[in-house]
Amino acid sequence: MMDVGRHPNIELMAYSEVEDVSGYVGNFRVRVRRKARYVDEQECTACGDCVPVCPIVKPDEFQAGLSTRRAIYIPFPQAVPSAYIINIDECLGDNPIACGKCQEACDKKCIDFDMQGETVELSVGAIIVATGMDVYDPTPLDEYGYTSYENVITSLEFERLISAGGPTEGHFVRPSDRKRARRIGFVQCVGSRTAHTAANPDGQRGNPYCSNICCMNTIKDSLLLKDHYPDTEITVFYMDIRAFGKGFEDLYMRSREMGVRYIRGLPGEVEEEPETGDLRVYVENTTTGVLEIHDFDLLVLSVGAVPRRETELVRQLLNLSRTGDGFLMEAHPKLKPVDAPTRGVYIAGCAESPKDIKDSVTQASAAAARAEILLSAPSIRVEAITAVVDPDLCKKCGRCAPVCPFSAIIWEKGRAAQVVAAACAGCGTCAAECPFDAITMRHFTDQQIYAMVDAILEEDPLEKLVIFACNWCSYAGADTAGTSRFQYPPNGRIIRTMCSGRVRPDFVWHAFQKGAPVVLVSGCHYADCHYINANRNTVRRVDGLWEGLEKYGVRPERLQLEWCSAAEGQRWARIMQEIEKLRATVTAEEVEQTRELLKGKKVPTSSKVWRIKEPTGAVMRCLRCGNEWEVVFDLAADEERMCGACRSNSVRVILKLESGNS
Ligand code: FES
Repeated sequence: MMDVGRHPNIELMAYSEVEDVSGYVGNFRVRVRRKARYVDEQECTACGDCVPVCPIVKPDEFQAGLSTRRAIYIPFPQAVPSAYIINIDECLGDNPIACGKCQEACDKKCIDFDMQGETVELSVGAIIVATGMDVYDPTPLDEYGYTSYENVITSLEFERLISAGGPTEGHFVRPSDRKRARRIGFVQCVGSRTAHTAANPDGQRGNPYCSNICCMNTIKDSLLLKDHYPDTEITVFYMDIRAFGKGFEDLYMRSREMGVRYIRGLPGEVEEEPETGDLRVYVENTTTGVLEIHDFDLLVLSVGAVPRRETELVRQLLNLSRTGDGFLMEAHPKLKPVDAPTRGVYIAGCAESPKDIKDSVTQASAAAARAEILLSAPSIRVEAITAVVDPDLCKKCGRCAPVCPFSAIIWEKGRAAQVVAAACAGCGTCAAECPFDAITMRHFTDQQIYAMVDAILEEDPLEKLVIFACNWCSYAGADTAGTSRFQYPPNGRIIRTMCSGRVRPDFVWHAFQKGAPVVLVSGCHYADCHYINANRNTVRRVDGLWEGLEKYGVRPERLQLEWCSAAEGQRWARIMQEIEKLRATVTAEEVEQTRELLKGKKVPTSSKVWRIKEPTGAVMRCLRCGNEWEVVFDLAADEERMCGACRSNSVRVILKLESGNS
């Protein structure tokens, strides 16, 4: 931290908040709000004279609430700059009748209650997101008694208690009576590796993933305790000990050799002896199958890692995606592990997933190196496959802009859409959305795709399976099936598109009109699209096609939608077999009838598409992110739609009149 503060090429903006990010790789504009500290950080020498006179006492967040701080404080001992700050919401202010004591106590006169925050605009080429993580709050897990018993603490609170810079200056005492704890229990996997079941539908009682760091943290804590207080009795309750990594198993064995007991099984109940504050733990030892009872002075809950509260905000600001666990998603787990899907943005540390210090440092170095490679190049290469708008054909409807996962389309009312080539990743979902054929994908034009459909169905169309497969997963899955020698019907004909979001409903319509018995649209698994969330548009469009086919009397199951990853060769073979079975049920008469039925019929688009038009006095509001649009007024008010800003697929959108009715 000190090195960063002193580095001539680094400007550290502490106590600041990013408000907005616009632009694209190599050319981002970032708006940052520097909040007022009310203390001149250049003049403050951190003498601390202001602290004792401050009458406001609040729990110290850095010490996990185990000690207190004043309204004027240094957030944590190693903070850079090492200067005081006033929490103005807690402060009584400079009114001499109310308070203003710190101002009187400060000889250097660095306290200024009139200080104002400022907004600064930065021009940056690359952005690294390293927003860290939070820890799981074990309050919902009543069986451990975290909210009922003082001597049940979390591993984070334990860290503060054993730290020399902590509230007890490293003297390890238990909270209830400030006496040394001699019998200490650790409970592993608190809030981690808990399946989301009917009893735990929204993850309140824990998350399904392994938090990666808790086992080694407990082993480290047990060694620390044994080092400081060799006579401490330590018991660890666990499901499995996950001591992977260099030297970790040695550390685990060392802790066992030093007398730490490891019991396989998690406590079912914890009781407190009210007079002494001691704890009784009931646990089934799953190795022996015996119900055991253990007594402790202190119980430490080894809490898991969860995404930071503000992750959704960061995701929206930078147009990123999140995994099902809520952490930020990298562009590719093996090939681009520190790149975000948005070019020029990199991810480091626990913002991406829970990880230890070594991995965080490795990833941060990699992210810095990736950013450096980008910035040191005299120019950047853009994708060869990008979208181009024909301004003569563009009807300025603006439908393309909200479906672009990279915000690469600039659209203003009354103006033709413009594609920022540097930001465009080439997924093609805008071209699929444009109802006026005004967007062309370089090297993947509509004409090329129509020509491929025609070529496939030129001879024996009844025997063919028309397949649209995305480049990254489904096409690679088909490849895996082939190289693994999995047997599947040979009559599938694949049309490769960069993303399944590129598949225009017209392509499918055209295939049926040309006599295709079955059409398959296939892409990466739903949350794994290589273009952030472009395949959500695939779902929406296929949905619309199903509705349309049904309306015109065509069996909708003749259009299939499947997700398949690059590694799922076997799955691809199975999908092909299923599709072939379906094809065998389609007769020549049915195909002919379909051609007749669809002749001259308009290609259906999903009813879930919203269109922006002249102001109507009505808006739609996304209940998740608060984004608002002016919309056409004839949409069903309570329908589920995808939000153009947060891209949540199941967002409830409401119609709200300007008069305030909703
Ligand atoms: Fe495969 Fe989008 S890249 S579905």
